[in-house]
Amino acid sequence: MSQATRQGALTLTRGHQHHRPPKTPRRPTFRASDYQTDIVHVIKGVTEAETGAIDHFNRIIESTDGLDWVTQDMVISILRDEERHRRLFEGYLREYRAEGLT
Ligand SMILES: [Fe+2]
Repeated sequence: MSQATRQGALTLTRGHQHHRPPKTPRRPTFRASDYQTDIVHVIKGVTEAETGAIDHFNRIIESTDGLDWVTQDMVISILRDEERHRRLFEGYLREYRAEGLT
C-alpha cells in the first residue's frame, strides 16, 4: 500500500469516525412512517440520505485535495453515483407531485 493510499484510507476512516453517532443521540431528521406503503415518505427519506452521503463525500474530496489524488478520484466517482441517485429520487418526487399524490 503506497503512502498516498494509506493516507487516503486514514482520511476515510477519520471521516467515518467523525460520522459515528454522538454520545448524546441527535434527533433523527427522518422518521419511519406509520404506513409501510407511504412511498412519498420513503422517497423523501432516500433523498435526504443521498444528500447526507453527498455532503460527506464532498468533505472527503476537500480533505484529500493536494494530499491523495487516488482517493480523491475514487471519491469523486462515488460522489457522481450519489448525485445520480438523488436526481433519480427527486424525479420520482416530482412525478408524485405532478400527480397530486404528495
Ligand atoms: Fe446512493
